[in-house]
Amino acid sequence: MTPRSGKSPRLYDFIVVSNRLPVDSIEDGNGKQVWSRSPGGLVAALEPVMQNHDGAWVGWPGRADLEVEPFDSGGMRLVPVSLSASEVEDYYEGFSNATLWPLYHDVIAAPEFRRDWWDVYKNVNIRFAKRTAEVAERGAVVWVQDYQLQLVPKLLRELRPDLTIGFFNHIPFPSYGLFSQLPWRTQIVEGLLGADVVGFQRDADAGNFSQAVRRLKGFATKGHHIAVPLVDPSPGRRAHGASWDDADTRSVVAKKFPISIDSPYYRETAQRQDIQARARQIRADLGNPKTIMLGVDRLDYTKGIRHRLTAFGELLAEGRVTAEDVILVQVASPSRERVKSYMDLRDEVEVMVGRINGESSTLGHHAISYHHHSYPREEMVALYLAADVMLVTALRDGMNLVAKEYVASRFDNDGVLLLSEFAGASDELKRAVLVNPHDIDGMKDAMMAAIEMPQAERASRMRSMRKRVFEDDVEKWSSGFLHTLTARHPEGNA
Ligand code: F6P
Repeated sequence: MTPRSGKSPRLYDFIVVSNRLPVDSIEDGNGKQVWSRSPGGLVAALEPVMQNHDGAWVGWPGRADLEVEPFDSGGMRLVPVSLSASEVEDYYEGFSNATLWPLYHDVIAAPEFRRDWWDVYKNVNIRFAKRTAEVAERGAVVWVQDYQLQLVPKLLRELRPDLTIGFFNHIPFPSYGLFSQLPWRTQIVEGLLGADVVGFQRDADAGNFSQAVRRLKGFATKGHHIAVPLVDPSPGRRAHGASWDDADTRSVVAKKFPISIDSPYYRETAQRQDIQARARQIRADLGNPKTIMLGVDRLDYTKGIRHRLTAFGELLAEGRVTAEDVILVQVASPSRERVKSYMDLRDEVEVMVGRINGESSTLGHHAISYHHHSYPREEMVALYLAADVMLVTALRDGMNLVAKEYVASRFDNDGVLLLSEFAGASDELKRAVLVNPHDIDGMKDAMMAAIEMPQAERASRMRSMRKRVFEDDVEKWSSGFLHTLTARHPEGNA
């Protein structure tokens, strides 16, 4: 698929739309604007998809008030949507990350419901829909991503009924009991129903969405299909909605498509001699302890970082482990730093790290090696190889791709994954050591079991998890989604 040149704008027959572009505009040390890879699993998953498809990626360039023309980066065509400073505050930090994010993650933090944020969320969604409509070829396939853009499918269908529209929700979709708190719940459901296929990480998420559709719109659902009337019934008729046999409906598919990673990349990188040498160097730099435990997360309250620190701190305090023998390396990459709950979390985590290190480190050995940065992907693979135990203790997580990256990197069939049952990845990686991160005693026992696990058991668990991660990689995710989408509109262009 190629962009049509000639009169501007150029048109594309396959378009990904997400809040963030895969690169963010940042300032280097000399105040010069440079592009840096964006954080998060969404970009990690979609980058290889876009590199294998011609097409364009529509999104925000990561900094307020930055107007840039479409440009190429990493083999991808990027179409920027500019956001003002107040839109960043109200749409991104506000409605997306202080309303929807906590609500969709089981209200681990209290969501704030503000009408002014909602108005800006709507306006920014309109801007994304318009920009996408401007660059979409007739009959194009458009794949909209994540909770920041839930109104875009309906807006886009209104602007461009010729398009085939998919939506994928990277985070959990909450149960109706929680979702119904949202004052704008009906508009969100209507926004999503503008898509032909609405994808989720787990069966439970798709089920929660279908239930919200039944409760709020009264539309009939059968298996993965939702019957959406071509003309929305008036609110008075809504109790009856559309029945399954109505001729004047279109069918929307709502089902799970568990996201994954570029597994071969991780295996091949881990097999490189220089990366293995770097892993040995990391171990040596840490004092060659018996066990390295590793956590790698965006610094987000959903990730259960405090719970894991509590568990490790207690193991040290009780003498079940010592700082000489076991070190916890925690990489906490900066995230949403102007949102209050994230500032509070950073303070709490850093106080905990300081306290545990103060109490349990020795002159030669830190109990916790804490890093508030992100690292290049190759360095992450070296860290994965160096780590004996990987800690993924999310309180709630759509999928958690770090868990899959660790498994894909361990070509040596070694290492233990300790994985929260509240991360979507636990549906697939059943031979991880599964934990309930709220159960601190259970987590301490699980950490000890991971540290002491015999080599044969480590290898058997890792082998079976690797089989799964290599069978269900990101290629399978994207082709599965796009196949379902284009099968519904055989003329679609993806
Ligand atoms: O997967 C959830 C998600 O919010 C993505 O949409 C996003 O790319 C990633 O996490 C990082 O978040 P943010 O863009 O807010 O830094």
